[in-house]
Amino acid sequence: AKPISRAALSGEADPRLVALSVSIQDDGALYEEDIRGSQAHVSMLAAQGIVPKAAARRIVAALDQVCDEFAAGKIAFDPSLEDVHTHVERRLGELVGKDAGYLHAGRSRNDQVALDERLFIVRGCDRCDGALVRLMQALLAQAKAHEKTLLPGYTHLQRAQPVSLAHHLLAYVEMLGRDRERFAEVRRRAAVSPLGSGALAGTTLPLDRERTARALGLAGVTQNSLDAVSDRDSAIELSFACALASVHLSRLGEEVVLWTTREFGFMTLDDAFATGSSLMPQKKNSDVAELSRGRAARAIGDLVSLLAMVKNLPLAYNRDLQEDKRPLLDGPRALVLTLDALAGAVETATFHAEVMRAALGDGEALATDAAEYLVEKGVPFREAHEAVGKAAAFSTRAGRPLARLTAAEWASFHPRFGADVLRRFDPAESLRRRELPGAPGPKQVKAQLARWSKALRGG
Ligand code: ARG
Repeated sequence: AKPISRAALSGEADPRLVALSVSIQDDGALYEEDIRGSQAHVSMLAAQGIVPKAAARRIVAALDQVCDEFAAGKIAFDPSLEDVHTHVERRLGELVGKDAGYLHAGRSRNDQVALDERLFIVRGCDRCDGALVRLMQALLAQAKAHEKTLLPGYTHLQRAQPVSLAHHLLAYVEMLGRDRERFAEVRRRAAVSPLGSGALAGTTLPLDRERTARALGLAGVTQNSLDAVSDRDSAIELSFACALASVHLSRLGEEVVLWTTREFGFMTLDDAFATGSSLMPQKKNSDVAELSRGRAARAIGDLVSLLAMVKNLPLAYNRDLQEDKRPLLDGPRALVLTLDALAGAVETATFHAEVMRAALGDGEALATDAAEYLVEKGVPFREAHEAVGKAAAFSTRAGRPLARLTAAEWASFHPRFGADVLRRFDPAESLRRRELPGAPGPKQVKAQLARWSKALRGG
């Protein structure tokens, strides 16, 4: 049968062109969005008196069947039909005959695919949001269990100052919380209907664009037909939100990889979230975390693909835009898989409080506290920094930890050091002095735990 879109062309497309043009293997995943859009469109056409009501009713019912057939994998893909839109229309024709021809009045595949993508993006944002909440809840649960677990915070991956594990885990909750906000923004901007923009210049038919948009649960309609059919901002924004969230997961993944090494020993994954080796029988690997890092590379690549695809396109639609399907569809799918696997890994992981506490050493992470002790006594910070630096160098030379220096030794590094400086070398005490907003002090952390518990209640 002659493909739907070759009305003015003679004969059939060369198989080499067909092989290049076919996109059903990717955009087939949009069947549900495509069909809901068609149902809303044809119902509106009937309400406007553009097509007979009985034909519209038959089309809507038959499209439900096409949807079920797609879901059941019963639609055979035919490369000469190019994309999901023509596959749906062709199958509809088989089911209702000539009446199927009423459906495409006042519509082009250009505004159709733009709509399908916007519907997909709205749903994708919701799926990502749900999965973000699940990982945040897992992190929060561990944070609540580890309010009193202390470990070094790091800069340059060198032990720096004490923090609680709760504070450390809540840092990721903050990142993921911003990711949720981004997805909500992306969703809000995407949720308008381009239908009625036609191929590029609208239509002479009296469509009711608002009615179609409302039927699809969209907040409004696009305001420029050229822009509506060639704009891929919402796809790019979704891709960016996915890429940035993936980068956050990659950083978390990197820490899980480090922390589960024998060298760090801060954390053990449950066996259900660990992998073995095909050769080395003793191995317990953190592939879940490594895949989180690897997936981020894919997400960044997808974003760059989309940006590069659009950058030189003249208005309005160009076939290049078909290449957006793989990166667009890949984003939420890969992100949700990663979020869910990490949520399980975090939820079931064991954190080793004693090992973390031991990594804090005996006062090394509290050198800054000693300097701040002097500042409290009126010493300029630079002078205090210098004095404690000397003490630290001495402690290394003497092979005696900072917390084991005597009051007399401290006094030799600066006359303002009194015996009470020795009390500054307890990490728990150090945290109790850090109660500025956002700091790792126990009261601050408790407040943050309460804030996040409330925010995440009921998802
Ligand atoms: N499969 C196409 C795409 O995703 C649909 C639009 C085709 N339009 C066209 N004029 N060839 O971009």
